[in-house]
Amino acid sequence: MFDSQEAVASKIIVALDVPNLEVAIATIHRLPQVQFWKVGLELFCASGPIILDVLKDQGKRIFLDLKLHDIPNTVAAAARAIAPYGVDFLTIHTATGLAGLKTAQAALEDSTTQLIGVTLLTSIDTSTLQQELQIPLDLPTYVECMADLAHEAGLSGIVCSPQEAARVKQRWGEEFLRICPGIRPLGTAAGDQARSLTPNAAFAAGASYLVIGRPILQAADPAAAFDEICRSLV
Ligand code: C5P
Repeated sequence: MFDSQEAVASKIIVALDVPNLEVAIATIHRLPQVQFWKVGLELFCASGPIILDVLKDQGKRIFLDLKLHDIPNTVAAAARAIAPYGVDFLTIHTATGLAGLKTAQAALEDSTTQLIGVTLLTSIDTSTLQQELQIPLDLPTYVECMADLAHEAGLSGIVCSPQEAARVKQRWGEEFLRICPGIRPLGTAAGDQARSLTPNAAFAAGASYLVIGRPILQAADPAAAFDEICRSLV
């Protein structure tokens, strides 16, 4: 599927879902082969932006998954505050609406950070969407509407389940990124992910990047788990 393990590694974003800076640094050192790290709310709230400097000093790419969701003025102000960090990807919920997505995108215009829309959390399935959230659409249609919104606002791509990546790729082409969490290599626990696929199936379905957390970090040997995933894709 890929030419080399290095080529695969550049497309696998490992979720640095750990409680503090100390554990984050130890984890980064334990997995030198990981090139692209995702910093989420837990770690960013615990460590502050210093974790981004640690990763940049080591030449790593960064996906800052803060999932902004607020009124247009506030998301734009947050995006402006984040721009100087120079991260590669920043997330915003597409449910923020078109105006908020556009103002956040405009706030990043002069930066190298690409804004990515979170369509629907991969822990949500159709019955949660329709019965709890009271959204009377089937799940793929809802994700497609959210992808259209992100595209219309000029975002660089979306976060979606690998099961929805094919439709989005078909609709908006290769350039509009599909970043897919909810990845479970064969033999690993699904946990709270309701819409998961294997790494192979996810790339075959049209994912541009995979986000993988627990199957690597909670493996008995995280480095071996990462290498095994890369090997399975060459
Ligand atoms: O451990 P696991 O592989 O399930 O980690 C998936 C990561 O992707 C988590 O950090 C989670 O916050 C994130 N994520 C997700 N679904 C989204 C957006 C982000 O699971 N829609």
